[in-house]
Amino acid sequence: MLTFGALDEADAPAVQALLESNPGYTERVSGRPPAPGDGLEVLLDSPPDLKPGQKHCVGARLDGTLVAVADVLQSWPNEQTAHIGLLLVHGDHEGQGIGRALHDHVLSLVRDWEGVDTLRLGIVETNAAGAEPFWSKLGYRPTGRVVPFIEGPVETTVAVWSRPLA
Ligand SMILES: CC(C)(COP(=O)(O)OP(=O)(O)OC[C@H]1O[C@@H](n2cnc3c(N)ncnc32)[C@H](O)[C@@H]1OP(=O)(O)O)[C@@H](O)C(=O)NCCC(=O)NCCS
Repeated sequence: MLTFGALDEADAPAVQALLESNPGYTERVSGRPPAPGDGLEVLLDSPPDLKPGQKHCVGARLDGTLVAVADVLQSWPNEQTAHIGLLLVHGDHEGQGIGRALHDHVLSLVRDWEGVDTLRLGIVETNAAGAEPFWSKLGYRPTGRVVPFIEGPVETTVAVWSRPLA
């Protein structure tokens, strides 16, 4: 059975295992395989202007094992927006509806955030082939904003997509 809940620093080894189960994502956006510490970084990393309590990490567990993670920034980059930083599903469990189910859980959280009516995320061009069809199915559309993205040897762009909460 799939269950959902908040994640914290104690879940870093499980998030690390998730990243390692689906290494293509890290390779496409960073130009290298997952490295020790990446799991903790997913849980802790945030933009410099984020205030404590604005970052929320959630996970989906299948019979107790973490099979998906998402992180969401509340009221960032503005009051009416929730920004999804990452949504990643275990490599052995893609295509089983888990990504959509975790996103449904994110929607249920965001509905409780006063003043937030928009969801937003960035799609890194080198990861777009798999990410665009998924986010498109979930109702996201390109905003037209495209900005440079540099991570290690990867020099590309990130396209901002959004959808209404309702
Ligand atoms: C993208 C990702 C999160 C999708 O998770 P998933 O559990 O495999 O997706 P789901 O099974 O819930 O699919 C939801 C819908 O998207 C569609 N979809 C998902 N990936 C797709 C793809 N690569 N091509 C076409 N459609 C796709 C599914 O067909 C499904 O459609 P439906 O609900 O109408 O049947 C997963 O592949 C992943 O972790 N990728 C690596 C990390 C990543 O790129 N994350 C996004 C960027 S932050």
